[in-house]
Amino acid sequence: MTEFSTKLTGVPRTMLMTTRARVDEHQREVGALFRDPKVFEWWQAIAWDSDLDCFYQPLSQLSWVVRANAFDQVARRHIASYADAVVVELGAGLSTRYYRVGRGCKCWIDLDLPEVTNLRRQFDSETQQHRFISRSALNFGWMDELPDCPSEHLLIIAEGLLMYFSVEQVQQLINQLRQRFPNATFMFDVVGGASKGKAAKWLEKLGAPMQWFVKNEGDIDGMGLAIAQVVSLVQENYRYPHRLNALRWIPWIAKLPYFRNAGLIIETKVLPLSSG
Ligand SMILES: C[S@@+](CC[C@H](N)C(=O)[O-])C[C@H]1O[C@@H](n2cnc3c(N)ncnc32)[C@H](O)[C@@H]1O
Repeated sequence: MTEFSTKLTGVPRTMLMTTRARVDEHQREVGALFRDPKVFEWWQAIAWDSDLDCFYQPLSQLSWVVRANAFDQVARRHIASYADAVVVELGAGLSTRYYRVGRGCKCWIDLDLPEVTNLRRQFDSETQQHRFISRSALNFGWMDELPDCPSEHLLIIAEGLLMYFSVEQVQQLINQLRQRFPNATFMFDVVGGASKGKAAKWLEKLGAPMQWFVKNEGDIDGMGLAIAQVVSLVQENYRYPHRLNALRWIPWIAKLPYFRNAGLIIETKVLPLSSG
C-alpha cells in the first residue's frame, strides 16, 4: 500500500503532513487535543515522504491539529443542531473527521482529487452514510451528487484547500454555492501575508504554490458570505503555550495583525443571491 502515498505530487502531497499531524497527536501521551485511532490505523500502511521533513515541525504539527480541532467543534455543533445534517469536506485528504465527530449526520461526503480518493479507498469503505466523491471541488458537478436536505442543514468544509486556489476560483466556488445552497454553512481557512515567506517558497518548489492570501477577514466582505466566526490560528496556538517552546514567552505577538492574520479559520453562512 505504501506506493500510493509516495506517488502523490503537488497539492495532494501536502495532505501527508496534515495526516501525520493527527497521527502524532493521537500518540501524545498526555494533553492530546483529540484521539484519532482510525488515522493511526491507516498510517501504519503509509510511507512517510522524507522530502517533507523540513516543513513538518512541532509548530506546524500543533497548528494543523489546532485547526482540525476547530473544524471538529463546528461540525459537532452542526450535527447536534440538525438531525438530517449533510456534511461535505472539500479537499478532504485522508480526513477521519467523520469517525471523530460525524457519525450522527445523515450523510458525510469526503471529496478529493482521484489520486487521493483512490488512496482513501485502500483503507476506507463507502457506506450509504459515508460517501466519497472523486473529482475537483472546482468541477461543480459534485453539487448534483449531494443528498436532499434543506440547504441550511448543509455544512461545507474546506480545510487547507482554498489557499491553493486563485481568488477568482474561490469566487466562482462561492457563486455556485450561493446559487445552489443559500444559507448553508461554509467553513474554511485562509492565509495572510505572514505565510508568504519561506514556507510559501518551499510549497512552490514542491509544486503546491499557495495563490490566495488575504489581509484579514475584511477581504471576505463582498464575496457573498456572511461571517459568523473568525478564529486566529496563531492566537489559538497560544492556548497551548507549553507546546510553543521559546515563542511561549512572547504571547503579545499574536495580537499584532501580521501574526494574528497569518492563518484564519472562518465560519460563514452562504448568502442567497437575492441579498446582493
Ligand atoms: C493540505 S491538504 C488538506 C487535506 C485535509 N483537508 C486535511 O486537513 O488533512 C489539501 C488537500 O486538497 C486537495 N485538493 C487540491 N486541489 C483540489 C481540488 N481542486 N479539488 C479537491 N481537492 C483538492 C489535495 O488533494 C489535498 O488532499
